[in-house]
Amino acid sequence: AGGDRGSAPADRPALPAEIAELADPANREDPYPFLDGLRARSPYAPFDGLVVVGRHAQSSALLRDPTMSARRDRAALSPTPRGPRTRNFLHLDPPEHTRYRRLVAGAFARRRVEGLGPRIREIAAGLLRDAAGSGTIEVVDDLAYPLPLRVICELLGVPFEDRRLLQDWSASLSAALDPPLGPAPPRLTTEAARARAGFVGYFRDLIEERRGAPRDDLISHLVQVEEHGERLDDHDVLATCVLLLNAGHETTVNLIGNAVLALLRHPRQFDRLRADPALAAATVEEVLRYDAPVQMTTRVAREDGRVGGTRVRPGDTVLVLLGAANRDPDVYPDPGRFDIGRSPAAPHLSFSAGPHFCLGAGLARLEVSVALGLFAGRLVRPRLRPGGVAYKRNLNLRGPARLLVDLDDAD
Ligand code: HEM
Repeated sequence: AGGDRGSAPADRPALPAEIAELADPANREDPYPFLDGLRARSPYAPFDGLVVVGRHAQSSALLRDPTMSARRDRAALSPTPRGPRTRNFLHLDPPEHTRYRRLVAGAFARRRVEGLGPRIREIAAGLLRDAAGSGTIEVVDDLAYPLPLRVICELLGVPFEDRRLLQDWSASLSAALDPPLGPAPPRLTTEAARARAGFVGYFRDLIEERRGAPRDDLISHLVQVEEHGERLDDHDVLATCVLLLNAGHETTVNLIGNAVLALLRHPRQFDRLRADPALAAATVEEVLRYDAPVQMTTRVAREDGRVGGTRVRPGDTVLVLLGAANRDPDVYPDPGRFDIGRSPAAPHLSFSAGPHFCLGAGLARLEVSVALGLFAGRLVRPRLRPGGVAYKRNLNLRGPARLLVDLDDAD
């Protein structure tokens, strides 16, 4: 999810203070005061070529607007894609987008996803059992990471034993997903290119293997679609695999981390969930609203137009602040309050909206509600270790890098 980050032209004006503050890794702990400020001014153009949108109604309309393109490679701000070509359908517009998305949509349809429930529960329960014995859980590494990674690996047909390799490449790609708000540090760009090349080589081998010996997995399905003459070339299969693997776990890792953190910081809400496990799904929705795992996305204007009173020209990047829209007081009363019993007037935008609405939303919701249900039901007196939270440096894919939780013995 999210936009590409390109190198900034040397003559770009300095970032306005309110955006520099948001982009500063020192403010990862709580970006919401800066997002509130940006939403209040939205829409506005901090410099030529960029329009920032943060109100709920405007963001929601923009994501559905056919004159707003997902072709980030056409942005005047960051027109150069780097490394080998890996354009996936997140970066395509209808009708091309529709064609590719349809090829994999069946695997994420509601009935198929519901069928994964027992396996997801088995994986999550095993992870919690293994971790809880020591009296301390590092939630990110013990639960949040391996659960969605294992699920998407099994769906695709990727060996989970390669976890460390995949995790390393994936972290490098996500770090480079921040929007074009400033010059991309060369290290991030080089790391991302290395990771992309790693994924390409890795999936090229797997695709070759499945072509020879198909199994009941998504890679085999994509290879067969290709061979039934639907013109899905090697590159398309590859780009789709890399997209599904990455979109299918990094974001969910952050949602699990953000959820556990929100519950431990709001003990009354945690008690409500413990008393009524049926609230797990509503808890997931409130965490998505309260602390979006994907904080922003971008679109590129195709035509001259206006967003609110602000002029938009072809090639302009529109930065949509999903995390700010989710705390718009026009839609959510007392938006900074974490309340698992809300019945919001409008859906949050954490899974985006319009044609790119997250393909894996149902899967993510199921994984995280299962994980939270077990976390609330099986662990005895979980509490946040003082100083036990550290955030990832990423601005866009937001979540804890480390989350230490102490427990009492089960008996
Ligand atoms: C697209 C968020 C989990 C697959 C998106 C977008 C967002 C998002 C915001 C759209 C970006 C845009 O409009 O530019 C999330 C969050 C997740 C999550 C917050 C977890 C909490 C998953 C999972 C999968 C997945 C588990 C499983 C495969 C995708 C795909 C797209 C997508 C394939 C591209 C859809 C398209 O372009 O048509 N996601 N996602 N996501 N997501 Fe997710």
